[in-house]
Formats: sequence, C-alpha cells, structure tokens
Amino acid sequence: MRKILIVDDDNILANSLRKALSKLHYDAVIREGGEEALSFIKSQETDFILLDNKLPDMTGLEVLSHLKELNVKVPVVMMTAYGTEDTAIESMKLGAYDYITKPFDLKELEGIMESGFNTYRLMQNIDETIPCLEKEFCDDQRMISVSKKMQKICKMIGQIAETDLTVLIRGESGTGKELIAQSIYQHSLRKDKYFLAVNSAAIPEALLESELLGHEQGAFTGAVKRKIGKFEQCDQGTLFLDEIGDMPLPIQAKILRVLQYGEFERVGGTEKIKVDVRIIAATNKPLEEYIQKGLFREDLYYRLEAVTINVPPLRDRTEDIRPLTEYFFKKHSQKINNGVKNIHNTVFKKLESYGWPGNIRELSNTINRAVALTKGDILTDENIILGGLKLNDDHVDSSTKWINEIENKIKHAVEAELKLSEHDIMNKILLPIEKIIIYFVLEKCNWNQVQAAKILGMSRTTLREKIKFFKN
Ligand SMILES: Nc1ncnc2c1ncn2[C@@H]1O[C@H](COP(=O)(O)OP(=O)(O)OP(=O)(O)O)[C@@H](O)[C@H]1O
Ligand SMILES: [Mg+2]
Repeated sequence: MRKILIVDDDNILANSLRKALSKLHYDAVIREGGEEALSFIKSQETDFILLDNKLPDMTGLEVLSHLKELNVKVPVVMMTAYGTEDTAIESMKLGAYDYITKPFDLKELEGIMESGFNTYRLMQNIDETIPCLEKEFCDDQRMISVSKKMQKICKMIGQIAETDLTVLIRGESGTGKELIAQSIYQHSLRKDKYFLAVNSAAIPEALLESELLGHEQGAFTGAVKRKIGKFEQCDQGTLFLDEIGDMPLPIQAKILRVLQYGEFERVGGTEKIKVDVRIIAATNKPLEEYIQKGLFREDLYYRLEAVTINVPPLRDRTEDIRPLTEYFFKKHSQKINNGVKNIHNTVFKKLESYGWPGNIRELSNTINRAVALTKGDILTDENIILGGLKLNDDHVDSSTKWINEIENKIKHAVEAELKLSEHDIMNKILLPIEKIIIYFVLEKCNWNQVQAAKILGMSRTTLREKIKFFKN
C-alpha cells in the first residue's frame, strides 16, 4: 500500500483528505508542522507528499528546500491557496512535482498522483554502477540486447548518455524507442532530475502548446489559472518528445527556439523563461519525406538528427528473438501463474521465421497470449498464434474497426477536456465528431439532404436541425 504524507495543520481538510485517500487504498498519515514532517520522512518510507505552504513552524517552500538538501526522491505536491501562483512556481523550481490550488477535487489530485508515481518510478530504479544495459532497472523494464545491432545501440547510449546532446530515436512502432529514451536518461548526469514525456500524436493541437510551454491565466477560454508547462517543470531534467513527427508546424517552430536559445514564453505571456532541458525525441515517421511535403521543419530536423539512433526492426535482429521470448515468457507466466514451466524448441523456430510488423510489442503480446492458452506445463508452437490481432480484426465489423485506431486519441481528448472543465464531456467530444461525419456525407451526396439523411440513418428533419445547430 502506498504511503502518503499529508503535511497540513488544517485538521478538517487533512482528515477528510486522509479518509478519501484511504478509500482509494492509500495509507495516508498527517503531520501538522514542517519539523514533524521532516523527521517522519527521515525515518519512514514515504511514497508521496502533499504539502501545504502555510505551516505553523515554517513554510512549505522551506520544507521543500530541506527535502532537496536531504536528496529525498519522493513526488511532492504543494497545496496552495487561490491567488498564490508565485508560491506555486517557486515550489516547482525547488523540485515539487506539481501544485494544486485549494479547494481541489479528489479526481484532480488522483490524476497528479498517478503521473507522479510513474515519473518517480523511473527516477528511483537507477543502476548506480556502470552503464550496463543488461541490468534489470525495474521489475518490468529490462532492455534485452543480444544482437550485434542492439549491442551497437547500447554502446552508443553509453557514449552519449552523459552528454547533453539532443537525441533522435527512429524506428518502427514497437521497436523499443521509449525504452531506449529511458535508458539514456537513466545513464545520464540528469538522472536525479525529471524525465517527462509528451506525446505529440496523442494531445490535440490546441492543448499541445500549453502542455509544453504552459499558459498564463486567461490566455484562452478555459485557462482559468496559470499553468506550468513540461519544459518549465523539467528544468535541469530530460524531456522526451515522443512521436515528434506528428508535432504541428507552429509548435515545431517554438520547440526549435527553445532548442536554440533555451528560452520561451508561456502561451499568452510575455515573460521570457529560461530553461535547461535535454531533449530526446522519437518518431516512426519518414521525416525526410515530411520535409518535402512541408509537414516538418528542415531546420528542426537538422537540429535533432545530429545524434540519431536508428532502432532496427525485430526481423533484422533475429538473434534477439530467443532471449526476448524467454524474458517475456518468464514475465508473463509469473503473472498468469498457470503452471507453464518450459518452452519447446520448435517455438523459437516458428518465431524466428515470422516478420514481426509490430516488433517487440507484438512479440510480447504473442507470448502473453500463448502462455494464457497453454494447457499443461510446456509451451509449444501450437500455442503461438502469429498475426493474431489481424486475424481477429477480420471478424470485427469493418465500421467499428477504426475505433481501435482512434481509441487513445479519444481518451486523450477526454482527459484534455477534463482539465478544462468537468461538464458536458459527452457533447464536447461527440458533437465535433458528429459534425465531421454529417458534413462529409453531405459533401459526398453533393449536399442532397434526402440522400444524406438516408445514408446517415436519420430523418430529414433531424438532419436539417443538426445542420442548423452546427452552423451556429
Ligand atoms: N530490447 C527490449 N527488451 C525488452 N523489452 C523491450 C525491448 N524493446 C522494447 N521492449 C518492450 O516492447 C514494448 C514496446 O516498446 P516501446 O514502447 O519502447 O516501443 P516504441 O518504439 O516506443 O513504440 P511506438 O512507436 O509504438 O511508440 C514495451 O513494452 C517495451 O518494454
Ligand atoms: Mg513509443
């Protein structure tokens, strides 16, 4: 059970928070003052700290400074009163993971806690010895690299990890780009600082800029308070720009500026903010082609590609298949625990002659499925279903197949909307989608409403009402 320390002398708030957190299966304890809190942290394991700034004996900021001196690596979230944004920003500079303005709701806190745990998980499991990538740095985060090609990549990671060079990681989906980015971070001099990731493909354009650079209060509708972006939060740390090929052009320009001058302005702000952030970027997109088509900035490309790691697809490093299979077998059979103990030799042959379009992710899923299907204690080649996902997809109604592809985007859109407000989510997400479908069908039918209504499966009156609604 994760242990949460609440540092606040407001008994009513602290107690209700403790109760709410225990319902979520956290073990929360309360300390009223800074000294008490610090001695608790020194003597007991703590997974998360919720810190109020107004304490009887010192400020929350002072507590943060002490934690920094003590090199305590636990996510701290500052609780600030409305109108004390400066304290909030100061706290981020002192290493707080985030801040939350009172009164807040539990859902907001839960979201921050989850992402805090994820971030710190990486920061805690550091191999302190030499850059040896075969070491297990986390229960489920090992990087298997037996093939010559992967060994070469490991060497390269060793050479560049401790520099501040920008790194571009390229490779097909599922080849391990993110794992490599994490490995660079873990072997870098910035390993005690943040490693944060932003996925350009998953965040709507309108929100991506503020996610990266932050925004000032009132910068746009919904910007009810100042927000600190990932760049600022990640000062001194490492920022992983995942799927950078999907980053919209205007944001590419801003990123280039941060890379060149180390400074930027929050959305809607004029203050120049200086940061020292190491960038690791990744993509599976053909950037050179994107440049030709005007989808990717050439200057940004040259800035990024100085150190490029090309991760080969799994079919080009078949020596890795066996050790990877054994690794995933161990991992999944431990989890499923259905008594499967061995892998039959024929399994490897079958796996090594397959093309792995989904690369290591597909291999992991294949082994997971095989372990679950195995009856008895030996996994045989009969349990290996290759291209299984595609096979299943054929049985799915074609009109619903696309949903798998955009599922994550929808989830991110919901999350983004939730950050702005918690009302009327269904309409906010569905209406724009409905509009796209209706207008597209209308276009296809040359705006013949009778025909379009039939295709859309709605009455002509309904269609007319919808068109009128969307026009307003
Ligand atoms: N060398 C490796 N050893 C062990 N596991 C690996 C290795 N490479 C990748 N994996 C695992 O395979 C999965 C996919 O890896 P990862 O997410 O890093 O790929 P990616 O290249 O970022 O994919 P995408 O382009 O789809 O984002 C993860 O679960 C990761 O832990
Ligand atoms: Mg990835």
